[in-house]
Amino acid sequence: MVGYHAHVGSQIFDPTLVARTIDVLLEFAGGVHRQWGVIPKVVIPGGGFGVADDASGVDVPISEWADAAAMAIERGCRQYNFPSPDLVVEPGRAIIGPAGVALYAVGSRKTVPGVRTYVSVDGGMADNIRPALYGARYSATLANRNPAGEPLQTVTIAGKYCESGDVLIDNASLPQLATGDLLAVPMAGAYCLAMASNYNLSPRPAVVIVADGHARLIRRRETYEDLLRSDIIETPASARLDERRLSAKKGSL
Ligand SMILES: Cc1ncc(COP(=O)(O)O)c(C=O)c1O
Repeated sequence: MVGYHAHVGSQIFDPTLVARTIDVLLEFAGGVHRQWGVIPKVVIPGGGFGVADDASGVDVPISEWADAAAMAIERGCRQYNFPSPDLVVEPGRAIIGPAGVALYAVGSRKTVPGVRTYVSVDGGMADNIRPALYGARYSATLANRNPAGEPLQTVTIAGKYCESGDVLIDNASLPQLATGDLLAVPMAGAYCLAMASNYNLSPRPAVVIVADGHARLIRRRETYEDLLRSDIIETPASARLDERRLSAKKGSL
């Protein structure tokens, strides 16, 4: 055993929660140390650094996170009387979240007078479940033309998966969108593709890596053949036997 791990959660913006998790881990470690003499070499409060889904940059300040964690470790080790273990962090989304941008093509538009205007896109809750699942708030930018000077409109970006809850961005402020326009949604690198599904038997999108002016396909768009790949179409022997019995019976009638 090298130490203690917990998972305080993902998307934690309050460093005091990390400190409290370390307090709990070290209290437990203190008891084990007292009884069995085990000194932890590492402590892992779990999760990484919270980052804003809407790319606003309102992320957890890493220095505040580190200060709070270090102080909690120092305090606990003094209290339970063992040397400071290493602090391990598990950042996932803070690294990969900003690395991914989801691109959607705009489809139709529907205005419900006095309520809202929907703009549909060719994706939604199957490639990004987070808005529908827990209210994650993303932003979008028009990506295929420069709308400088155009007035902004408030629209709801709706997905294509045929569910009333399939809303990608509620009340987005965007220039007038036309069918075929491209919307770019930043911060889509984390927990989007990893949690994507074939909801309503829809194929998942392709992934392109872009670096230094070059673009390369790293995951092709799924096909309907992919979706049927695991289906077993062959008729089992027992069913064939039943079919033969049935046709023999029909013949004798
Ligand atoms: C045990 C564990 N460590 C790390 C992470 C990643 O955390 P984050 O999304 O904050 O980067 C997760 C995600 O839930 C997790 O369960």
